[in-house]
Amino acid sequence: MAFPVVDADYLKEIDKARRDLRALIAYKNCAPIMLRLAWHDAGTYDKSTKTGGPNGSIRNDEELAHGANSGLKIALSFCEEVKAKRPKITYADLFQLAGVVAVEVTGGPTIDFVPGRKDSKVSPKEGRLPDAKQGSPHLKDVFYRMGLSDKEIVALSGGHTLDLTWTFPVIIILFTADYFRELLKGSPHLKDVFYRMGLSDKEIVALSGGHTLDLTWTFPVIIILFTADYFRELLKGETEGLLKLPTDNALLDDPAFRPFVELYAKDEDAFFKDYAAAHKRLSELGFTPASSASKATAKDGTVLAQSAVGVIVAAAVVILSYLYEVRKRG
Ligand code: HEM
Repeated sequence: MAFPVVDADYLKEIDKARRDLRALIAYKNCAPIMLRLAWHDAGTYDKSTKTGGPNGSIRNDEELAHGANSGLKIALSFCEEVKAKRPKITYADLFQLAGVVAVEVTGGPTIDFVPGRKDSKVSPKEGRLPDAKQGSPHLKDVFYRMGLSDKEIVALSGGHTLDLTWTFPVIIILFTADYFRELLKGSPHLKDVFYRMGLSDKEIVALSGGHTLDLTWTFPVIIILFTADYFRELLKGETEGLLKLPTDNALLDDPAFRPFVELYAKDEDAFFKDYAAAHKRLSELGFTPASSASKATAKDGTVLAQSAVGVIVAAAVVILSYLYEVRKRG
């Protein structure tokens, strides 16, 4: 397939897709899976054969069926919603843009995004993505094959801060009338218990509304944040309920990796800086941006300002969409 022409029109579409993705990710609360989609499309790159990489091939049925990609179909369907509105943009660009936006709207660092990737219908054979059951030699084999360094392996692994296994999301539970709306879908009988206490029917109903704070009955707003939690948790050792995979332990045990884990756990700025650089490299494996495309991207300051606005917009969209849902159910 041919490279897209990155002209002013294409850049305008990228800008609109960025905004579409911010709203979509906030509304569907799907930042983790969008980041995983971008990483799995890019992470198949082989620098010696110049095959795989961020070329949109993960959408091919054959590649999507690879064991490592299980569960990613939903992320693809979210991206299709944006693609339907912005058909000009290649899948390869769209998936990488989704990864960049996922990090930004969860409060992570701004990642420079340069468009112009071409799509491929050719998928690599299964087995290029890392196997979590293996240790440090395997991690190095896989990432060195992509042309990435030890520091980049550790920084990128910090993407797991968006994995609910490793992070502590902010859960906002709101006192609403949700309980009654849900109750009307099938009502249990409480009269016996409350009549014994001398309470009236009206009091039984009003008091039961306290259940709106019970997670069984309400729909909490869950905010997942991009932080250095992954490294802090790694260093804590055994934590109840947290299953560390061999690839996680490899970051602690390998002397080439461990200093970066220690650095990122105590210095989030250093993590964000290295993560942003490593993520950009990952998203551009095998892709050399045309010079016009690089020049056409906004200057750092503008991108930072846009990103800050992005986080605020994302938070507002989460809250508004929640209130909209509540009204709709009412
Ligand atoms: C270092 C090698 C890596 C291994 C072995 C690995 C393995 C895994 C595994 C087993 C899961 C759980 C999947 C599931 O729930 O079905 C996962 C989730 C995740 N991974 Fe990785 N991963 C690696 C690197 C990365 C990188 C480089 C990133 C991004 C920069 C990343 C981002 C994520 C995210 C965001 C999730 C959560 C997805 C969700 O909740 O939907 N991973 N990873």
